Amino acid sequence: MDTVKYYKRASLPLEMHKVCIVQKTRIPTVEERVEAIYRAGFNTYCLMSDDLYLDMLTDSGVNAMTNEQLGAMMLGDECYAGSRTYRKMCDKIKEIFNKDYFLPVHQGRACEHMIAKAFVQPGQIVPMNFQFGTAVGQIALQGGSYELCLKESGLELQSSEPFKGDFDTEKLERLLKEQGDNIAFVRIEAGTNLIGGQPISMGNMLEAARICRKYNAISILDASLLQDNLHFIKTRDAEYSHLSIREITRMLSDAMDIIYFSARKLGFGRGGAIITNDKAHYERVKYFVSKYEGFPTFGGMSIKEMEAICVGLDDTMDEETIAQGPAFIEYLTRELVERGIPMVTPPGGLGCHIDAMKFLPNIPREKYPAGCLAAAIYIASGCRGMERGGIDEPWENEDDLPFGTLETVRLAVPRRVYTVSQMNYLIDRILWLYDNRDLIGGLGFADGNRMGHNFYDKLEALEPWPERLAAKFREDFGDSL
Ligand code: F0G
Repeated sequence: MDTVKYYKRASLPLEMHKVCIVQKTRIPTVEERVEAIYRAGFNTYCLMSDDLYLDMLTDSGVNAMTNEQLGAMMLGDECYAGSRTYRKMCDKIKEIFNKDYFLPVHQGRACEHMIAKAFVQPGQIVPMNFQFGTAVGQIALQGGSYELCLKESGLELQSSEPFKGDFDTEKLERLLKEQGDNIAFVRIEAGTNLIGGQPISMGNMLEAARICRKYNAISILDASLLQDNLHFIKTRDAEYSHLSIREITRMLSDAMDIIYFSARKLGFGRGGAIITNDKAHYERVKYFVSKYEGFPTFGGMSIKEMEAICVGLDDTMDEETIAQGPAFIEYLTRELVERGIPMVTPPGGLGCHIDAMKFLPNIPREKYPAGCLAAAIYIASGCRGMERGGIDEPWENEDDLPFGTLETVRLAVPRRVYTVSQMNYLIDRILWLYDNRDLIGGLGFADGNRMGHNFYDKLEALEPWPERLAAKFREDFGDSL
């Protein structure tokens, strides 16, 4: 994609697809947006699809599919046990990852559930480069805990470091040496979701896997965000950029004992997969798959989706295809940074991330700046992002916050869904919001209203700032949407 040069204007991300099917959308009025955000308890998870112009909550299961994927779905062999589609997916996984054993499950967290059931004993520890809620939730349900081993600089929101997801490998090694049998496995997340979709370098992943082998610990790669990470290895890592995406994937896969992924992200479908070359690991996980997910040739996934994922995995090996998401994220981030908006840099995968504490310096953490900003962006634009901050952490004061709790708003970029003009609209509204940021106020929990999870929590505006913002919007934009 970056091979296309423009004659007169600065470069824009250029789509390498044409649109075949569209879904209509509309922009609710600013008054409707204020009403909707109150109804949602200032929690963007609780907004409904009809409240939205752009849905940038997540890239999970909402990437546009190709005509080839949709066509392949019709070839699905709907068979409870021993489906031909299962064989096809086994072959595709063998071709790409060189792994012999594959277990289908219904989504990424089901992989994590099965793996935790199979490998975590009460009291055991899972070191990881960074935590992700679904993974650590499953580990905790089995009585285990996690230990973060991220390199300290990974938490710097504005940085020029190309691979902020890297392990502190000295810490990892120390932990494995000291804890021995108390280590359930090591989880390697590529890319690293909660620090801004930041990639982890190839050398660092290979080193983490080497340390695992040295101390006889199982290495498990969470490859849900691998497609962006592959793009960044190819474009940012001089040591590996001469390799093709397939060669990088193969080299990485060969180093890992187990790989799992949410196919809602990797493979542009809806499902999940656990893969390995170790028969004993496979048998151990298979037992739980058949108990919780489904017969191990479909494992809770729709056969049609398995067909689509086979095509999607092939597309993941195509440099042009996987460059699309990062190109949009880079564009959004660059345009906003150039106009003074505090963004997480360098841009990563999955989405662009705004540094909420810098955007709203007058709102202390106790008033949830990332939650306020996500709600305010929705009021200003009809676009839904996601609070990535303290709302879903049970804490009383700043000292209680778990290590690495940042305050960011994520604007996910589902692949091939939105156009550059829609991104330009969003940029414009964020710039307006920044100029009017003093109008944004805090949020708080009503007594007893805290569920401890940002999926459901309902908050209240501590002052009538949404109305203030809407009035200024009307003043500046007249009767525009
Ligand atoms: N691992 C990572 C790195 C993820 O980002 C996700 C999901 C999962 C596992 C779980 O997969 O949703 O299929 O159960 N991330 C989504 C997001 C929810 O919006 O970031 P799942």
